[in-house]
Amino acid sequence: MTAEPILLSLLPDSASFDANDVIVGGVSLRGLAGIYGTPLFVYDEATLRSRCREAASVFDDGVAFASKSFLCGAMARLAFEEGLCIDVATGGELDLVLRAGVPAERIIMHGNNKSVEEIERAISVKVHRLVVDNFEEISLLASIVSPASPVDCLVRVTPGVEAHTHEFVRTGQEDTKFGFSVASGDARTAIEELRIIPGLNLRGVHAHIGSQVFELVGFLESLSVLAQFIANDDFDELCVGGGLGVAYVAGESAPTIRQWGDAIRAAAVGCGLKTNVRLLAEPGRAIVAQAGLTLYQVGAVKPVAQRTYMAVDGGMSDNPRPVLYGSGYEAFDVAHPHDAREQRVRLVGKHCESGDVLIDEAWLPSSTGARSIVATPVTGAYGYSMASNYNRVPRPAVVFVRDGVAHEVLRRETFDDMARLEM
Ligand code: LLP
Repeated sequence: MTAEPILLSLLPDSASFDANDVIVGGVSLRGLAGIYGTPLFVYDEATLRSRCREAASVFDDGVAFASKSFLCGAMARLAFEEGLCIDVATGGELDLVLRAGVPAERIIMHGNNKSVEEIERAISVKVHRLVVDNFEEISLLASIVSPASPVDCLVRVTPGVEAHTHEFVRTGQEDTKFGFSVASGDARTAIEELRIIPGLNLRGVHAHIGSQVFELVGFLESLSVLAQFIANDDFDELCVGGGLGVAYVAGESAPTIRQWGDAIRAAAVGCGLKTNVRLLAEPGRAIVAQAGLTLYQVGAVKPVAQRTYMAVDGGMSDNPRPVLYGSGYEAFDVAHPHDAREQRVRLVGKHCESGDVLIDEAWLPSSTGARSIVATPVTGAYGYSMASNYNRVPRPAVVFVRDGVAHEVLRRETFDDMARLEM
């Protein structure tokens, strides 16, 4: 067996193949590995910007970038510049986005278990929307909010829709820790309780059915439940959440952000949603996943009877998704993008456990070996943001590339950085 050369369609929009290099944003990937070292996250700014613009153009004002998928100051500013709000799910995300200079009126605060401090900060900085998740939060809000410190809210509801995706990232079904159930009546009770809190302006409803969802039908079912649910309310916002899937490997295909938005808009008309209701969404992965890739250097190559193990200088600390969700990725050798990939290896990391597998069956050119620079495409979402220091491995640097220039937006972590919490 053998695999074709890596598909250009899995790489960032600006990517092209040279004879012995891959160019992204006008910058050589081999050169980047030489300058910044490996592992390294590389993002194509043009892809990031074009996905943000697509979202801003297909949904109404207030559509947000889900920052949990990839957050640093540069990314928060980029999404804001391109017209998106920023969705944050914790006080830490809120703090970083504020530090990045994004105005609070473009921030949407989520969280299924917000602390008093998180709620107080969100209200005091005057976030654009606070998304209310549970009855304890309603009690807290009743004691904090007043006409002197008003807050615009959405209520998070569970529409009872099962998204076809991994059970760990499914959220729209009844059995979930998120939001208020429509079917049980809790969502209606929550609305009634929120409406009587002085200073709290309830603007609409929010639902998020899950993540890495390829089938649009789940979103349309959710929309239909929400539209019916609010038919007699005077709300002016409906957010369908995030969750649009992306292709990670050859053979997968996902709707574009525009197709997703167009389908939702068309369905909204069919559901009889009032025309004054703004249609919103919160894509994360669909904006950042394909814009990013990870560069690694190969070290140990170990043939055993069953297979060859090829170890790289990162692993589950910079990409825990294969271990957590069994997610599939592909790999390519940046010096040989045109070559057929004839060598089947298990691409593993440097962590002290057997589960530290990046790609169970990776195909690489037969010339790939120790010291080769190997890339895994489509690592822009939930890679850096879920990175850890397991085995005291420093987190990689992140560079944005654009028009032939690389900007290091996050430097590589050092041993000193990791030691700074010691008392
Ligand atoms: N809005 C809400 C309320 C969410 O909970 C999420 C994701 C999003 C938006 C953005 O979803 P996206 O468009 O990125 O799919 N770590 C997992 C994904 C967890 C998603 C959690 N919530 C993964 O690596 O696949």
